[in-house]
Amino acid sequence: MPEKSWMSFFSSCCGEGSDGSATMPRKAQCSSGSPERVSSSDTSNSFSQDDLSLTLAGSNLHAFTIAELRAVTRNFSMTNVIGSGGFGTVYKGYIDDKLRPGLKAQQVAVKSLDLEGQQGHREWLAEVIFLGQLQHPHLVKLIGYCCEDEHRMLVYEFVPRGSLENHLFKRLLASLPWSTRLKITVGAAKGLAFLHEAEKPVIYRDFKASNILIDTDYTAKLSDFGLAKDGPQGDNTHVTTRVMGTHGYAAPEYVLTGHLTAKSDVYSFGVVLLELLAGRRCVDKSRPTRQKNLVDWARPYLTNADKLRRVMDPGLDGLYSTKGAQKAAAIAYKCLSHNPKSRPEMRTVVEMLEPLLNLDDVPFGAFVYVAPKEEEEKEKVAIQEKNHNNHDERHKQRFPNSVIHSEVTLHKDGRSLYRNSHFRKSQRQNQERGA
Ligand SMILES: Nc1ncnc2c1ncn2[C@@H]1O[C@H](COP(=O)(O)OP(=O)(O)O)[C@@H](O)[C@H]1O
Ligand SMILES: [Mg+2]
Repeated sequence: MPEKSWMSFFSSCCGEGSDGSATMPRKAQCSSGSPERVSSSDTSNSFSQDDLSLTLAGSNLHAFTIAELRAVTRNFSMTNVIGSGGFGTVYKGYIDDKLRPGLKAQQVAVKSLDLEGQQGHREWLAEVIFLGQLQHPHLVKLIGYCCEDEHRMLVYEFVPRGSLENHLFKRLLASLPWSTRLKITVGAAKGLAFLHEAEKPVIYRDFKASNILIDTDYTAKLSDFGLAKDGPQGDNTHVTTRVMGTHGYAAPEYVLTGHLTAKSDVYSFGVVLLELLAGRRCVDKSRPTRQKNLVDWARPYLTNADKLRRVMDPGLDGLYSTKGAQKAAAIAYKCLSHNPKSRPEMRTVVEMLEPLLNLDDVPFGAFVYVAPKEEEEKEKVAIQEKNHNNHDERHKQRFPNSVIHSEVTLHKDGRSLYRNSHFRKSQRQNQERGA
């Protein structure tokens, strides 16, 4: 798609009033009935503010002003930073019940896109369009967005436990127990299956531990839809696109050919499942040569019951279901098949994984996570709201191990394939914009 089309969308999206103020609607207009989901490829030259409103009809997304989001995040304070990825910084914020009628008081996460390159606009729009229209218990909820002047922001529900990456790989946090790992795996698999089975199927394209958020009760929620893409339509078997994603997670055939299918997501799911079993990052330069690439190293052990022990995370202390681990490893093996056609559909993966939650051969002594009672949760939220003004100090005292208080959770990691400012600025990106 030529650059012009995106710019024309954005100039209409952020048209200025006579006083120079942004004229985005305060809330996406709702029409009666539920229109068919608009695909990201429908956002062509003529895509206007009205089109966006129609696209988001019924989604209840709020269009926030930058002034509102400044207030929500205490002027984008560094102490509110909860993460950062390829596209910008994520701040924790708090919306009170006076901000918008119908919008309840709640904690939120505000992602502010780094606007160095056009890539940011494109991905911001992809997130608004996909998450504005798709709702599911295993997808993060988008509350609204901000498109004012050069600012592009996304406002999500705050997911208290942060990303799976933090839980798996940050030393500060206790090792996740086996049953919790399985619960997260099943939840994330359901999220992907939902996307693949949508009326207009969606390929997520960036399934990885840092894009899986963990709720209070360890429900997994997929976030970061910046790279999501509509699946092939009609007789097409794949979508041809510029190769984007993350080194170590992206399917080999996609990296080689740019041919994208739902089976590319299945491969990435296999990588995350393996990370959950092994407690190791898919690419770890600090390991001995043979072990740097987790998939290459672990693959031969996954179908061998005796050798599987070498792969399993020592942090589990042996407290896992042997049968469950063997079955999960066999599923990972299938997902990681070199031949995309041999990989299972995500629905099949869910069906294979879910029964593992009921296996009871976990050795005695295993910590089993018990979700806090609803009342306790409500009480926690009430106290947090009351303490909002002096939130950080008090939160630190109440939850000393919270991810939020570890040093800034994620940094631009440089591991992203082509997802950096260098690439954004490159000529190639401009040439390939239509991908
Ligand atoms: N809704 C949220 N609740 C809590 N933490 C979040 C939320 N959204 C993002 N984060 C944190 O910010 C990090 C980066 O967010 P992400 O949406 O993946 O941004 P990027 O597009 O830059 O990769 C996540 O890995 C997570 O740690
Ligand atoms: Mg991300």
